[in-house]
Amino acid sequence: MLSDETVAVIGAGNIGRAMIGGMIRSERIAPEQVVATRRSAGALDELREAFPGIRTTTDNVEAVRNASIILLTIKPQSRSEVVTEIREHVTRTALVVSVLAGVTTERLQMAFGSEQPVVRVMPNTPALVDEGATAIAGGAFTDDGHLMTVKHMFEAVGQVVTTRESLMDAVTGLSGSGPAYVYMFIEALTDAGVQQGLSRDVAASLAAQTVHGAAKLVLETGKHPAILRDEVTTPGGTAIAAVSELESRGLRTTIINAVNTATERSRALNEE
Ligand SMILES: NC(=O)c1ccc[n+]([C@@H]2O[C@H](COP(=O)([O-])OP(=O)(O)OC[C@H]3O[C@@H](n4cnc5c(N)ncnc54)[C@H](OP(=O)(O)O)[C@@H]3O)[C@@H](O)[C@H]2O)c1
Repeated sequence: MLSDETVAVIGAGNIGRAMIGGMIRSERIAPEQVVATRRSAGALDELREAFPGIRTTTDNVEAVRNASIILLTIKPQSRSEVVTEIREHVTRTALVVSVLAGVTTERLQMAFGSEQPVVRVMPNTPALVDEGATAIAGGAFTDDGHLMTVKHMFEAVGQVVTTRESLMDAVTGLSGSGPAYVYMFIEALTDAGVQQGLSRDVAASLAAQTVHGAAKLVLETGKHPAILRDEVTTPGGTAIAAVSELESRGLRTTIINAVNTATERSRALNEE
């Protein structure tokens, strides 16, 4: 599906690198079809060593000139500078794929001008280990073919859902930012184990595997998490005692409020 494409990865940091690695490892794309940029020449040398055959440059304009897909993986704060730099040099039919948190397709279309096809994507960092959760939404000038192409690209690094663009800020608050909340949970579980006398290594390993295993059970059985939780809670047992404590401390409301706050922040980023 990507065999005729040339992909310019603009800002090949964490997410850009994950995408390059995923697409090459899954043989969706040959290294020769990738050109990656960032400002640090040393970091680009490392990237070429990690993925022999890709081209790299510190010159964004050179990278986009012959690209059929422009993957924007810079930080939202660098958007104006980078888009201003490249917009005159992007082919009008090139597909712009943006992972910029909070930045709408409309805003990018206005920046690129004319009828540039833009797909907005919200991945997350587990994409680095091919376990990403990604949502994609098309803009005004994209068709099903564009969406299929982007789905295919991001399936190289995990699961992909297609959604309405109006829900992308919610996705950002949930799965885009979600790993941060899960890391805090793992850290807290680990500290609890240490407090109860486990070594930190053992506690950290048990905590991370518990989160991984529980998530896998949800995904593989398709059971509602509440049913799986009921299956763990023996009458008068340990788990129900802890569940009661978590409920009394408002765990659920705290998480809902955290996701709401991150969603609002994502909306605000579009205005900055
Ligand atoms: N991390 C996440 O959890 C996550 C989740 C979902 C979406 N996102 C989105 O993904 C994007 C990238 O996030 P990230 O975590 O991958 O950030 P990152 O690791 O900082 O990557 C951004 C890269 O852009 C490069 N860069 C900065 N200015 C540039 C310029 N003018 N021209 C070319 N390259 C430039 C930087 O490298 P140099 O300093 O060498 O230039 C850096 O490596 C963000 O827009 C974020 O909203 C991130």
